[in-house]
Amino acid sequence: MLYTSYMHTSRRRSFWRFLRRHLLLIVIIISLVAASLITINWFTNSINTLTAERQAESAAELARLDAEIQEIVEQRAEEERLRKLAEAKKTAEEVIRNPSQAAQTVDASSCNVSGERTDATQPSVLVNKKHCIQPLSYAPSDLVTVNGATISAKAADDFQALFAAAQAAGQPLSVTSSYRSYSTQVATYNYWVSISGASGADEYSARPGYSEHQTGFAVDFANSTGSCSLDCFGTTSQYSWLQENAATYGFIQRYYAGKENVTGYMAEEWHYRYVGPTVALDMKDKGILTLEEYWGLPGGDY
Ligand code: DAL
Ligand code: ZN
Repeated sequence: MLYTSYMHTSRRRSFWRFLRRHLLLIVIIISLVAASLITINWFTNSINTLTAERQAESAAELARLDAEIQEIVEQRAEEERLRKLAEAKKTAEEVIRNPSQAAQTVDASSCNVSGERTDATQPSVLVNKKHCIQPLSYAPSDLVTVNGATISAKAADDFQALFAAAQAAGQPLSVTSSYRSYSTQVATYNYWVSISGASGADEYSARPGYSEHQTGFAVDFANSTGSCSLDCFGTTSQYSWLQENAATYGFIQRYYAGKENVTGYMAEEWHYRYVGPTVALDMKDKGILTLEEYWGLPGGDY
């Protein structure tokens, strides 16, 4: 017991002796370790800050490059749009200068500004001053004549049904114009130019290659005797009946008053265009009056 106590006391003393003798060394080691830890910590923080700064700089640079690319893409699209518009104008001018030769001389692929809805054989085709028919001298291969209208067979059944329904409702119709060939449109347009001059005619008559009548999907209506046609037709009960019912049979009035800047033409209460019941009824449901707005494609002047 006495021996054990003596041993404990002796060990404590040698421990303190060791501590006293090596105190300086221990302090140096602890200081070195602390300094190393502080340096490592500082170094890590510096690297993290630097990395975050670099990442932020890279992100800003990428965003700047993205914006620059977007600007270039938009600039190119605008240049392309203007180029196509200039070509469309040139095409139209060539048609005026030399209507009978235009079909052969004009590059038809350049007068469709959007390049969309170009298939003239389909009721989904868009024809306006910025979208010519391709080829310019196109003629449908499926023309049929029903109820006084020469139209594409794709529209014939619905047209016959419309004609019969109007008759049954006591609103009999007649047709004053339907399919017109390229060369008929040359004569039609030139006739109106002789009456109103070219800029006057352009307000209501399509240049050759730019008329919906050439597709076989357009019909001009009058009352049954034909005594009230063109401007007069909008005052008739037949016109009111068509406004209510034409869409059921796939037809729309193509040129409304107030939409001249969109369609490129003055109002024509008599000119109906076949687009098929799905599109015609959807337009009616949505209250959209023009194909340009419905399809989101350009229209207006040449
Ligand atoms: N009157 C229409 C615009 C045409 O000539 O086709
Ligand atoms: Zn017409």
